[in-house]
Amino acid sequence: MKFFVDTADTAEIEDLAATGLLDGVTTNPSLIAKSGRDFMEVTKEICGLVDGPVSAEVVALDHETMMKEAEVLRKIADNVCIKVPLTIDGLKTCKALTGEGTMVNVTLCFSANQALLAAKAGATFISPFVGRHDDNGFDGMELIRDIRLIYDNYLFDTEILVASVRHATHVLESARIGADVATMPPAVIKGLFKHVLTDKGIEGFLADWAKTGQTILK
Ligand code: E4P
Repeated sequence: MKFFVDTADTAEIEDLAATGLLDGVTTNPSLIAKSGRDFMEVTKEICGLVDGPVSAEVVALDHETMMKEAEVLRKIADNVCIKVPLTIDGLKTCKALTGEGTMVNVTLCFSANQALLAAKAGATFISPFVGRHDDNGFDGMELIRDIRLIYDNYLFDTEILVASVRHATHVLESARIGADVATMPPAVIKGLFKHVLTDKGIEGFLADWAKTGQTILK
């Protein structure tokens, strides 16, 4: 499963990219606003920090203007992935852009039928939002299971990008189901490295090692 980070904070992206485990980045208008940075400038910087896809979202609601915005965004770098909302105009835009060889991430997916439509429109990625579903009393991971089943039934190439991830259990379940990608806030990715028994184990080994009086580096 690929790991994307869901942020426009370049310091966090740089930090995670240094682990060698970061496969891409997703942003959205709210994350750009949170960064306080210029959209074009920060997106260009992010594209230089990772080799993988960097999702940059259009804000127009009609197909014609979405295409114009995508034209501007895809010139930023070769690894820009145009993010469009799951609407009729968004899917028209998806079909046109992927037909031209541009990566497209279809966002704000809340049903398996929407995911089926996005795959038929040739989406590179479909972004089902699990956390926002959980917030509303529906098990978001059920949606991922349904999409996996449908995409496998028809051998769709569209990658399932689990979005709105809130905690490590979402990540574990995504991997169990066989999602292609999980996009996570930086804190969730960093939390995956942690285990209290790992820390305790290191502490014990180092205490015993000290008793030997030896060093590895002479
Ligand atoms: C995905 O691409 C979205 O940017 C993101 O995962 C939304 O998450 P939220 O529900 O925490 O805002």
